[in-house]
Amino acid sequence: MSMPSSALSSHGEKQQQQQQLVCVTGAGGFVGAWVVKELLLRGYRVSGTARVPADRKNEHLLSLEGAKERLALCRADVLDYGSLRAAFAGCHGVFHVASPVSDDPDLVPVAVEGTRNVINAAADAGVRRVVFTSSYGAVHMDPNRSPDAVVDETFWSDYEFCKQTGNMYCCAKMMAEKAAMEEAARRGLELAVVVPCVTVGPMLQPTLNASNRRVAIYLTGARTFYPNAVAAYVDVRDVARAHVLVYERPDARGRRFLCVDAVLHRQRFLQLLRDLCPDYPIPTNN
Ligand SMILES: NC(=O)c1ccc[n+]([C@@H]2O[C@H](COP(=O)([O-])OP(=O)(O)OC[C@H]3O[C@@H](n4cnc5c(N)ncnc54)[C@H](OP(=O)(O)O)[C@@H]3O)[C@@H](O)[C@H]2O)c1
Repeated sequence: MSMPSSALSSHGEKQQQQQQLVCVTGAGGFVGAWVVKELLLRGYRVSGTARVPADRKNEHLLSLEGAKERLALCRADVLDYGSLRAAFAGCHGVFHVASPVSDDPDLVPVAVEGTRNVINAAADAGVRRVVFTSSYGAVHMDPNRSPDAVVDETFWSDYEFCKQTGNMYCCAKMMAEKAAMEEAARRGLELAVVVPCVTVGPMLQPTLNASNRRVAIYLTGARTFYPNAVAAYVDVRDVARAHVLVYERPDARGRRFLCVDAVLHRQRFLQLLRDLCPDYPIPTNN
């Protein structure tokens, strides 16, 4: 069967794109490692940053398929512009996944300054396109939203409400996403934003990250009741694919994309968990 010439040229372009060098910040973390894995599987050459690349907690990256030939780890801290500039040398694209994940009040300046450093270092290194990992926490925390509203990419959390309720992580992700948009526009960089909700699924890294810890507490018996609450969940493999998809599609530039699979009441979420792990002490009371 013959292919139309336009399909052949876009196939060729795609192949060329997939041999490009791209950088993933926070490569050793839960989401970062899956983004690295997805990029390697698609044929990219990947530079992954970590604050201490030789730390044993990053060893899982070295055994990914294609890592031996096409993955290099380098040291970078988002607060150190020079380390980012060096890490991005020769890269076509940057996936800015790294972020402190906690409710420490110092999170906001670190996330914002770190993001500004990443965008400026990328622009100075001649990078064309950046994908920024935001969070649903930057979108849904608004007490004044109508309960009937269907949340989409136009929604933003209420900064003051997040601050008053101690949700500094949501404040940090909101301000960092806005900083990424502002700085990318100023520097003429193509930016696409992935906005995942609570991300769960298999871990490549050896230690629990915050979102999987939220599941683990129900498996270990550390939490004996559950709140009357709903949350949105997505599989980490879908989040990783979304990152690469928005990188590869030129029509994604300048846009944000919610990455949500299911919205579940905690009771339903725990029932699904119980079906998967019937022998674990999963709470039945709220
Ligand atoms: N998991 C979720 O449910 C979820 C949902 C929505 C969005 N996200 C976003 O996804 C990203 C990754 O989160 P995760 O769940 O994968 O968390 P994680 O496993 O804790 O990974 C966080 C990563 O950020 C890096 N990092 C932290 N502070 C840094 C700094 N000052 N300089 C350089 N790197 C730094 C860490 O690198 P080191 O190894 O150097 O410490 C680590 O690789 C974050 O942007 C987070 O906001 C996560």
